[in-house]
Amino acid sequence: MTTRRRFTLTQYLIEQRRRFPSASGDFNALILDVALACKAIARSVAFGELGSVLGHPTPEVATSINVQGEVQKKMDVISNEYFTQMTEWGGHLAGMASEELEEPYQIPETLQRGKYMLVFDPLDGSSNIDVNVTVGSIFSVLRAPQDVIDSGRDVVEADFLQSGTQQLAAGYALYGPTTMLVLTVGNGVSGFTLDPNLGQFMLTHPDIQIPVDTHEFAINASNARFWEAPVKRYVDECLAGKPGPRAKDFNMRWIASMVAEAHRILMRGGVFLYPRDTKDTSKPGRLRLLYEANPVGMIMEQAGGRASTGEVPMLGVQPTSLHQRIGLVFGSKNEVERIERYHAEPVKVELHNPLFAERSLFRD
Ligand code: AHG
Ligand code: MN
Ligand code: MN
Repeated sequence: MTTRRRFTLTQYLIEQRRRFPSASGDFNALILDVALACKAIARSVAFGELGSVLGHPTPEVATSINVQGEVQKKMDVISNEYFTQMTEWGGHLAGMASEELEEPYQIPETLQRGKYMLVFDPLDGSSNIDVNVTVGSIFSVLRAPQDVIDSGRDVVEADFLQSGTQQLAAGYALYGPTTMLVLTVGNGVSGFTLDPNLGQFMLTHPDIQIPVDTHEFAINASNARFWEAPVKRYVDECLAGKPGPRAKDFNMRWIASMVAEAHRILMRGGVFLYPRDTKDTSKPGRLRLLYEANPVGMIMEQAGGRASTGEVPMLGVQPTSLHQRIGLVFGSKNEVERIERYHAEPVKVELHNPLFAERSLFRD
């Protein structure tokens, strides 16, 4: 039997670096540190109850709440620590920002500071962790502003407020039946599967492309009464199936781990919506721009898909705060464009003529 020769993540990164002959290698080293953090998280997740990593960080308190006002799980805290500890020492980072930390994370003064900034959601879909459903980590790499690089000063919120087009790299790890790392360094999207024997990410999915059309959508339908008209129209048309305006039947999925939905869509197409809605008007969407929407958006666009707020391309949005929330639609290009079109079209005003109402003179 001949063994198939596969690239490791390290080899892939070396190969990519050849496009930039003057590159220092710092960037590759940073990505490998991130991959190491993901491997450590994968290992903790895999031990589950045996590793005492399920549940809340402080068992005596029924629930603990993070900066987002959301319930924090023990694995959220552990994953955040793996990310900071495994990436701070290398000398490549000027600072970090995490879903779990209200303020930017400073590289300790005893360590060297570098020119990149790492922004991450250490564990996405953590409400699924206790029920053994796929979770993941999402990350984005930005360049630090020049004065930060020159002075080595502490990073502040404003340094991170860069649009998605500024991202140098983005990726996610998926802790599912297999552990995967999906990465873009701005030259397409590649998927790596963790070989548990070697402890290495192996290139298994080179140059991932998302089908432009789909008949599968993902949305939390329990929010239907809060949706805006264009979203309601889109979903109604999908549900109408073959006899409806789309003339085809649709399938629906909802895992409640955005990173797992993103991966399914990357593998076989589909569209994901967590749109802005009227459920809580203080929150313009559920998901976060800097460490959820932007990295997944870059991956989608690099794989020939599309990511949007529903109205405008996600990657063009100028962030206004570190933990900003935003409506997010991504996936198969034609479908996302259709949703954008519905948002652009004037809302059709339904005529409520009592003569034609549900029970009226002209109806039984
Ligand atoms: P996180 O676990 O990082 O807070 O993110 C959870 C997100 C996302 O992964 C998922 O799509 C969404 O929350 C699920 O929301 P619902 O509970 O409304 O379905
Ligand atoms: Mn998340
Ligand atoms: Mn999270």
